[in-house]
Amino acid sequence: MVEKARLSHRLTHGELVTLLAGGGADGALFAAADRVRREQVGEEVHLRGLIEFSNLCRQDCLYCGLRRSNPGVRRFQLAIGEILEMAREAAESGYRTVVLQSGESAAYPTGAMVELLHGLKALGLTVALSVGEKTRREYEAYRRAGADRYLLRIETTDARLYERMSPGMSWANRVRCLMDLRRLGYEVGTGCLVGLPGQSLASLADDLLFFQALDADMVGIGPFIPNPETPLGAAAPGSLALSMKMMALARLLLPDINIPATTAMEVLHPQGRLLALMRGANVAMPNATSGPARSLYALYPGKVCAQETPRHCRSCFGEKIQSLGRPIGTGNGARIRS
Ligand code: 5AD
Ligand code: FES
Repeated sequence: MVEKARLSHRLTHGELVTLLAGGGADGALFAAADRVRREQVGEEVHLRGLIEFSNLCRQDCLYCGLRRSNPGVRRFQLAIGEILEMAREAAESGYRTVVLQSGESAAYPTGAMVELLHGLKALGLTVALSVGEKTRREYEAYRRAGADRYLLRIETTDARLYERMSPGMSWANRVRCLMDLRRLGYEVGTGCLVGLPGQSLASLADDLLFFQALDADMVGIGPFIPNPETPLGAAAPGSLALSMKMMALARLLLPDINIPATTAMEVLHPQGRLLALMRGANVAMPNATSGPARSLYALYPGKVCAQETPRHCRSCFGEKIQSLGRPIGTGNGARIRS
């Protein structure tokens, strides 16, 4: 099955479930994902500087530390000038792409976002936004102002599980957002959580087929990490091994896309991101946020590098990549279709 997938980039739902369930074939799966990664997107590891610019959020996702019902969060909102200063430092330390991430709020009206985007583009950066569900008009305005990419995980393709996890939100609207982003010409990143309470292997297989049907340009997959400040604080964490298998399968099904080694993987294993880079991943998003914002943006506990500086992480991570014998990407790391 792994060999078939390596050559054809196709697997049925049943085959995906078998591979996700199987313990024995993991080595072969990881080796095939690493090979497809090397053949299709090469050895370069593309770094994106992650700037977490506000933890204000109107949503109430059961798993997320920034949910509006968490009174323990000190909320912050960086000014446009502060965000641009962090982006300038990121560009100076070598990043070609920044990812601007925040909770969902009206704190940055379209005009402010457009101003921010113009400033980021003036720095010569490729810009990915990760600011949640917006209207089509807003996505259009961001795109016109220069946004190149947009990251919006579907989280899970099980609509009922999704709506249980995110009270008041609609799964159909999330799909609408992804479709709008596609049509507007963004490079679209999506992805899922692995190990949500009530999630099945069949549903994870659906997630993979969804990424393929959407023709996602980027897929980020990470384990669910229970946050004690949320209603799921006592739930079991997602499995790192299963998350890695999901990531490896995403590489087999979508051979030429960008796949990040996600930070949540590193929370469960001290070398989680490096392992991911050896099992299909070709991208990493070191944290480029500075000041108090860096630790206040707490989706889950045990956030890695919360006390480090952006410069420290950039060089630390650069060394880690070089220890793998892989070069750091010199371009902007856009998806190149094979
Ligand atoms: N554990 C792991 N990942 C989480 N995210 C949010 N909360 C958690 C958690 N407790 C992920 C979501 C979101 C991304 C920005 O962070 O998948 O899309
Ligand atoms: Fe942050 Fe190594 S990547 S300390």
